[in-house]
Amino acid sequence: MPTIDAKAERVSQCKKPRGWLGRLLLWNMNSRHSKLTDWGLSHISIEPVYTILDVGCGGGRTLRKLAERATQGKVYGVDYSEASVAASKSMNAHWVEIGRIEVRHGSVSKLPFADKMFDLVTAVETHFWWPNLPTDMRRIFRVLKPGGKLIIIAEVYKGANTRIAKLAEKYASRTGMSLLSVDEHRGLFVNAGYSDVQVFEERGKGWICGLGKKPDATALGGTACMD
Ligand SMILES: C[S@@+](CC[C@H](N)C(=O)[O-])C[C@H]1O[C@@H](n2cnc3c(N)ncnc32)[C@H](O)[C@@H]1O
Repeated sequence: MPTIDAKAERVSQCKKPRGWLGRLLLWNMNSRHSKLTDWGLSHISIEPVYTILDVGCGGGRTLRKLAERATQGKVYGVDYSEASVAASKSMNAHWVEIGRIEVRHGSVSKLPFADKMFDLVTAVETHFWWPNLPTDMRRIFRVLKPGGKLIIIAEVYKGANTRIAKLAEKYASRTGMSLLSVDEHRGLFVNAGYSDVQVFEERGKGWICGLGKKPDATALGGTACMD
């Protein structure tokens, strides 16, 4: 039975992996999140020419999945954990070398990328750790091209009928996890200015996937300050 300290350490490692334990966890997450990621990504179409950003890229497996689909494009990863940046680079060494994947160190709150750079932004198992979720959703808005999409994928949400969701909900105030319900996810996208918002659940597994689009230039009209 893990002690409370061991549990707290594990949660903190999920939030920001570091050291040897962090590296182990990232390696484990690469395989544990693979099916969840495939399910989430099945809700969007990825064009070969897309430029894509994966926020909170962790061990880097999603970067590889995306690069295999955006065959003529480029995939960027960003993570505020040095251990995650190193793991993503090492996992994708060949792709980095040929210039198809690039990994940068940085926070979702201050993305080290130019305005309107991405056709698609993905975020797998990470958004619940962001320091200010509503504001950070807007920060992603800045780097999306008009018409570009944000997809958020997670294996836990408020109200899901799974053991992990119940545990996460019980300890959310202590872990600092922003655990949102289905409706709250929808509101998160809408309030940040995204259009065409959709939220999908895989109820048996407790998975959630939220999707929204940055309105294209004509729909934005005089509201260019939304960037
Ligand atoms: C649970 S891991 C998930 C990693 C990967 N996306 C996956 O599915 O396996 C969460 C990742 O999000 C990163 N992360 C958390 N908060 C972040 C923030 N504010 N800015 C950038 N990355 C963040 C962590 O460092 C960690 O690598």
